[in-house]
Amino acid sequence: MRLDLVEKWGLEMKVRQGASAVEGPSALVLGIETSCDETAAAVVRDGKEILSNVIASQVDLHRIYGGVVPEIASRKHIELIMPVIDLALKEAGASPGDLDAIAVTYGPGLVGALLVGLSAAKAMALALGCPLVGVNHIEGHIYANFLEYPEVDPPLVCLTVSGGHTDLLYIDEYGRYDILGRTRDDAAGEAFDKIARVLGMDYPGGPEIARAAEAGDPTAIDFPRGLLQADTFDFSFSGLKTAAINYIHNLRQRGEEVPVADIAASLQEAIVDVLIAKTLAAAQAYGVKTIFLSGGVAANERLRSRLRELAAADGIRVYYPSKVLCTDNAAMIACAGYYRYLRGERASWELNAVPNLRLGEG
Ligand code: KG4
Ligand code: ZN
Repeated sequence: MRLDLVEKWGLEMKVRQGASAVEGPSALVLGIETSCDETAAAVVRDGKEILSNVIASQVDLHRIYGGVVPEIASRKHIELIMPVIDLALKEAGASPGDLDAIAVTYGPGLVGALLVGLSAAKAMALALGCPLVGVNHIEGHIYANFLEYPEVDPPLVCLTVSGGHTDLLYIDEYGRYDILGRTRDDAAGEAFDKIARVLGMDYPGGPEIARAAEAGDPTAIDFPRGLLQADTFDFSFSGLKTAAINYIHNLRQRGEEVPVADIAASLQEAIVDVLIAKTLAAAQAYGVKTIFLSGGVAANERLRSRLRELAAADGIRVYYPSKVLCTDNAAMIACAGYYRYLRGERASWELNAVPNLRLGEG
């Protein structure tokens, strides 16, 4: 099955398999995620044990365009969704009748992409007579931490940094989000991706910049750190993006060599500096001793290690998911959905895709 999929669609397929579904009083939740360019399904027991986590990435398809093409993403989701769900159930050793709930991402994201996952989830829930739970994609990213560290409780400060979002949140209890700040323009991941593209790197650019940065000097170029000194928890990365792109164009116009490693290291440092300063300031302002990092950019090693080191000096513990759970996946959706299910939340058949869904809006 797995090989068939890889050969048939030529897609990267990541599968993490845990123990098979066993007897006993426990809740099995199937998570479904199709908000962007990953078709993903996972089976998670009791919000903490990953029995399967299947991610069919379309990244190779979109790479030639330098970013995600929404129409192509929707079409691929349609081809992949049922095989991916079948595989997730098989890897978990579960049958559809074992499921206690189906959790699906309904926003934010690309509307056509979201509708594919939603339609599959609704059809399965209806056919199985199984509860349906709608999950906010950003909440899913936050819950990737509760999935791996179920013993950690709020209150905490969470930095969610992905290709589309840069949100700083105060969470005083499960399911309640106080948005302290967000980006006023580009998301942190978007800044990585756009500058990487100008440097001729592949999409997504974040991991490429991080790799190139290993050989560079983070102090080589003094790129702007937007809103660093400002009295706000908001972020701004558009000035940095313009400065980096102008820097590269000027060198090219003069026919000079572009020091890719130094640019990558300096850029990464500028982004990480701002993310860390605001997050630590928020933790101090709210007097919390726990910080969560989540979203695709939370896979960045420099961000992870520097934040952990600086926070430790203030007696603050920093948690971040393992890398496969930082970027888009369905295990985090199953986990967030499990807690909503426990709270008695059920989606109606009218549940629709909400491309601009905000945290705390349902
Ligand atoms: O959460 P995610 O998979 O998708 C969205 O919901 O956007 O995040 C993808 C973003 C991309 O912008 C990608 O470049 C960035 O996460 N990213 C990274 C790293 N790995 C992924 N950025 C910096 N360093 C990384 N190691
Ligand atoms: Zn995401």
